[in-house]
Amino acid sequence: MHSVVISGTGLYQPEHTITNAELVESFNQYADQENARHAAEIAAGTREPLTHSSVEFIEKASGIKQRYVLEKSGILDPARMYPRFAERADDQLSLMAEIAVAASQDALASAGKTGADVDAVLCAAANMQRAYPAMAVEIQQALGAGGYGFDMNVACSSATFAIEQAVNAVRTGSAKCVLVVNPEITSGHQAWNDRDCHFIFGDVCTAVIVERADSATAADQWEVLGTRLATQFSNNIRNNFGFLNRSEDSDPNARDKTFRQEGRKVFKEVVPIAAAHIEGHLADLGHAPAAVRRFWLHQANQGMNQFVIKKLVGDASPDVAPLILDEFANTASAGSVIAFHRHRADLAVGDLGVICSFGAGYSVGSVVVRKR
Ligand code: COA
Repeated sequence: MHSVVISGTGLYQPEHTITNAELVESFNQYADQENARHAAEIAAGTREPLTHSSVEFIEKASGIKQRYVLEKSGILDPARMYPRFAERADDQLSLMAEIAVAASQDALASAGKTGADVDAVLCAAANMQRAYPAMAVEIQQALGAGGYGFDMNVACSSATFAIEQAVNAVRTGSAKCVLVVNPEITSGHQAWNDRDCHFIFGDVCTAVIVERADSATAADQWEVLGTRLATQFSNNIRNNFGFLNRSEDSDPNARDKTFRQEGRKVFKEVVPIAAAHIEGHLADLGHAPAAVRRFWLHQANQGMNQFVIKKLVGDASPDVAPLILDEFANTASAGSVIAFHRHRADLAVGDLGVICSFGAGYSVGSVVVRKR
């Protein structure tokens, strides 16, 4: 069995941002237009009018202040309310692969590696652009990597679940250097016209290099002490988009074919699951939560992270559990990796950290690391 390290991380962030004020302005225009269009039914009492969204609610309920998006005009167009992407020919690099390559090159540079050093590519994200060929294989080719690649989806826990697969592959010797990449084009599956959740997501891509400790050359290395994954079925976060929609003769634009959730239930149910999961994982590795210098948590809701950290260590300061969702919003599986990417440079050799994601499934994944 080989010792395994995370030797590099990378981030691609789109050039466009949407502030809460811009988002709310377009949503409110949409609501007014819909209400005008259905004025007769609303007057007859057969239809509920749409209610305005508010910047104050979004910031207070979630902590989100803005989000990055790959395309802005389509999302903010009240007559459209989703991004506008040009279809690409089969021989062009696909959009998911393009942002994956950008984040991967950043991660490879930080690990002091090139694509040729990689012998497995795991593309792990909450949504894949197509059924096949696997995005990972296209990314593998674009980077000049060897070995194999495959896609995997565990929604918001895709990154940590993929890191465990990468760690196991390296530990047992089936791969030497694995690229885990998380292209999250969440704007494509967000219901931008649903007031309850139109503010939640942002687009981004993260990448992580997992390799054998004896071949790692990066100055910044994190020994993986352990990984732990858990799932428990819940319908509280769900998206029914899928390849059987056509055969079911269902409406491809129906509300259930984009992200939907029972946000309050998710909040209440997932906080204790995540806290117990982290505590149990640390205990089995012989550590108390108080021994952890930093927690890089999933970034869905500021209050949720504070509850998890308070349960674990009492102190929910940003130094213990940094937040990036104010800038990025919820970026599905990429959130905890962005936190790790942005907020680890100040830690010292020997410091312990936990990367932890939680989300749809339900799913929760933790990776315990120590700075080398
Ligand atoms: N603007 C203004 N008011 C809004 C609003 C908006 N955009 N959206 C909802 N509201 C209103 C609701 O109508 C409700 O009003 P009422 O009290 O008069 O009925 C009130 O605000 C509270 O709504 P609720 O949905 O209960 O809000 P919340 O406090 O639970 O916050 C979330 C909503 C989504 C931010 C929060 O539940 C959350 O983040 N949950 C965790 C989600 C999560 O982790 N998901 C994982 C996804 S990968």
